[in-house]
Amino acid sequence: MQLVLDYLKRNQARFVAELCDYLRLPSVSAQPQHKKDLRACADWLAKHCRQIGLEAGVCPTQGHPIVIARTPASAAGQRAKRRPHFMVYGHYDVQPPEPLELWKSPPFEPRLAGRSVFARGATDNKGQHLAHLKAVEAYLKTGTPLPCDLTFVIEGEEEVGSANLAKFLKSHRNELNCDAVVVSDTGMPDKNHPALTCALRGIIAFEITVHGPARDLHSGTFGGAVDNPAMALSRLLAQLRDKNGRIAIPGFYDDVAPLSACERRELKRLPLTNARLKTLLGVPKLFGEHGFTPTEQRSARPTFEINGLTSGYQGKGSKTIVPAWARAKITCRLVPDQRPARIRKVVCDYLGKICPPTVRLEIEAGHGAEAYRVSPTSPQAQAALRALREAFHREPVLLREGGSIPIVNDFKKVLGADTLLLGLALPEDNAHSPNEKFDLDCFENGQRMSALLWQELTKQPTGGGE
Ligand code: BES
Ligand code: ZN
Repeated sequence: MQLVLDYLKRNQARFVAELCDYLRLPSVSAQPQHKKDLRACADWLAKHCRQIGLEAGVCPTQGHPIVIARTPASAAGQRAKRRPHFMVYGHYDVQPPEPLELWKSPPFEPRLAGRSVFARGATDNKGQHLAHLKAVEAYLKTGTPLPCDLTFVIEGEEEVGSANLAKFLKSHRNELNCDAVVVSDTGMPDKNHPALTCALRGIIAFEITVHGPARDLHSGTFGGAVDNPAMALSRLLAQLRDKNGRIAIPGFYDDVAPLSACERRELKRLPLTNARLKTLLGVPKLFGEHGFTPTEQRSARPTFEINGLTSGYQGKGSKTIVPAWARAKITCRLVPDQRPARIRKVVCDYLGKICPPTVRLEIEAGHGAEAYRVSPTSPQAQAALRALREAFHREPVLLREGGSIPIVNDFKKVLGADTLLLGLALPEDNAHSPNEKFDLDCFENGQRMSALLWQELTKQPTGGGE
């Protein structure tokens, strides 16, 4: 094992240069003009996997391709009939970088500053899964036998809802059958607190369009005699959440799993204070549902958020029109026991009920996923905690997180495998925001954690987790 750890230490400068090469590829899955860049990124990644000694290929899908890479049979130490097999999941697609003018340096020209590398996708998720690849490289290049087989599944559609991956899992069920899935695509509260995430929120996405007149109208000639779709949409949206942050849609909270006293105690122990959160986010005052702490609000309570709002003239200067339509892009975060289909229905029913007769409402459904929960007391979770402790030289914490990784539900349903969420992102990494970065200490500690993890996991009886 010392050989592996020494190899990691010796090669950090090259690893950072490789991360920068990876970050130069603008793999923005949401934007059709980047389709070729996603393919190029998948090709780069598969080639990189082969260079470090993995068997790798690019699998086309109806959307962006999936990269699969495996440890060769020769890499394993024991010749047992059935070696433990773990999957590492990550995503090479990134969020749109806009608004570009807010970046200190261009999003696809990685910039090193202190212990950070700035670029879109640095923390979410290229840096995080590259840490796992560098750990396996260290085993393969030092001839250190791996105690298990590993399969990397790195997809290109996570940021747009993973539409094609579940089907892929089903059709490759046999080769992907594994003892657990390891994912580093979550966070840690700060550099001194490595974390095992035990819950993620689910999500539903949809677009609401309010249609008014058949075309944009002169607001002087016709304004006053027709409803204004932007006003109508604003009125609709304003009725969906009360001034205390509670969602005002009947039935929305019906199935919400309450927080146990024990969970609330655990969440209170986390090091992020409200004052630091306020400063970090640049808000004049924190806001949220009464009766819950900000940590609870952003991890264990459901939300209704407007992600985008569009109507009328968006150019410079003024234009006197009544717009023909107004649109809002919405996502709701869901917590355990809320069912995406049911929440979609209560939202649509309520919008239909409160929509005035002066406009026509159209609701287009998007992606959806349930919340995820995994036991922190299973032997696998305990093994992960030991690897975190040893790699970071710090006591790990247990987290519930507010983001979503929809596919982890399918890992359980299709493959029967639990997911260990071992995130390396810091709150100040600016995931999905301008000036995204990844911390190079997290990168290096993450590589060590990954290297140690395979040893710790295989000390355990495999094939279950609960
Ligand atoms: N890395 C995030 C998920 C995440 C964020 C987990 C924060 C825990 C804390 C992932 O890349 C992501 O952004 N997922 C999307 C999924 C959605 C598009 C279906 C999300 O949460 O918005
Ligand atoms: Zn993301």
